[in-house]
Amino acid sequence: MDGAEEIYLMEHPDSTEEIPVLDIAPYIAGEPGSRELLGTRLREISETVGFFYLIGHGVPQGAIDQAFAQSRRLHESPLEVRRTMPKFDRTGYQGVEDRQTLAATQKPSLNSTINIVQERSPGHPKLDPSKPFRRPNVWPHWLDGFKEGALEYQGILHGLAKKMLPLWAAALELPADYFDAAFADPHIIMSMVYYPPQKEIGNRRYGIPPHTDNCFMTILAQGNVPGLAVQMPSGHWRIADVIPGTFVVNSGNTMVRFTNGRFKSTRHRVINTNEVDRYSIPFFVAPDLDAMVECVPTCVTPDRPAEYPPIRYEDFYYWYQYSEGVRGFEKKSAGPGSKSEELWLAPEDTKAGSSAS
Ligand SMILES: [Fe+2]
Repeated sequence: MDGAEEIYLMEHPDSTEEIPVLDIAPYIAGEPGSRELLGTRLREISETVGFFYLIGHGVPQGAIDQAFAQSRRLHESPLEVRRTMPKFDRTGYQGVEDRQTLAATQKPSLNSTINIVQERSPGHPKLDPSKPFRRPNVWPHWLDGFKEGALEYQGILHGLAKKMLPLWAAALELPADYFDAAFADPHIIMSMVYYPPQKEIGNRRYGIPPHTDNCFMTILAQGNVPGLAVQMPSGHWRIADVIPGTFVVNSGNTMVRFTNGRFKSTRHRVINTNEVDRYSIPFFVAPDLDAMVECVPTCVTPDRPAEYPPIRYEDFYYWYQYSEGVRGFEKKSAGPGSKSEELWLAPEDTKAGSSAS
C-alpha cells in the first residue's frame, strides 16, 4: 500500500469490521470472577483492534451531558472573549480561528480545544511552568461554574480510570493492584474539543490527522455526531458509530511499551463531514510523569525479550512529541554506542535551532 492509497483509505472509511463492545457492569457490581473473565476479553480486544465501546461503566448520563454543556458554553462564546484567554501552552485553550500547527509537516487541525490537566494548587511540587507538561490549568474566566463543572466530570472519569486499572492488570495476568503505584497521581488530560463542519475533504485537512495516542488509555465521550474513524486490523478504516451511553476506549503507546508490543496502539483520525458542529471529550490517562514505564513480567519471555528499555513517562512523552515532528522537541546526542532512550529534550531545553514559535 503506497502513501496515496493509505491516505485515500483513511479519508474514505469502508471497513465492515466491528469495533467490539466490553460490558463491565458485572465487574463494577463486584461479581466474583468478573475481573478475570473481562480481562480475557480485554486482552483479545487489545491484541487485535485496540479500540472498544465501553458499557456498564456506571457513569451517569447526566454527568456526561453536564460536561458537554460546559464545553458548548466555552466554544460558543464570542471569539473576542475566547481570545482573552492566555495563549495555549499544552494546557489551556486554542481556538480553530487561531490554530497553530504544532508539527511543521501538518496543516492546522480544524478544531478548537481546551486541555484540562489535574488541578493543582499554586506551589504544588508537580507544577513547573518551565516544563511543557507541568503547566497549570487556564480557565475561561468569564464562565461561572465552568471550572467546577469540568473538574466534577474529570473527577468522575478519574474514578472510572482507576476502576479499569485492575481490568488491564487482569488482561495481562497480573495482580489487581499492579498498575496502582504508577497511576497514584496520573497525568490526565481532559480535552473538550469542538469540530466545525468540514467542507473540504482531502488536501490534508483534518479535524485531527491520523495518529496514535501516547497515553495508557483514552476514554472518549463521543457526543452525538460521528467523525472519528479507526484503522481496523485489515488496514481499512471504520467510522466509530455514535452509540449512546458508551465511551469509546483505546489503548495508547504507553500500553505498547508496558506490554512489550503485545497490545496495540491503533491509529485514528477525525473528519467532521457532517453539516453540524461536533463536540467530543477525550480523557487521556497516562502514568505519573515520574513513573517508569517498563515491560510487565508476563510479556517478557526468553523467546520474546524486552524490546524497550524502561523509560520515565515524561521522557516518553517527549519522545512522542519528537516522533510526531512537534517543533522544539529534539533528540539529544548521547554519544556513540549509547542505548539509553532518555534523550529527549523539550523546547525549553533547546536554546538554538528549531524553537517553538
Ligand atoms: Fe487520539
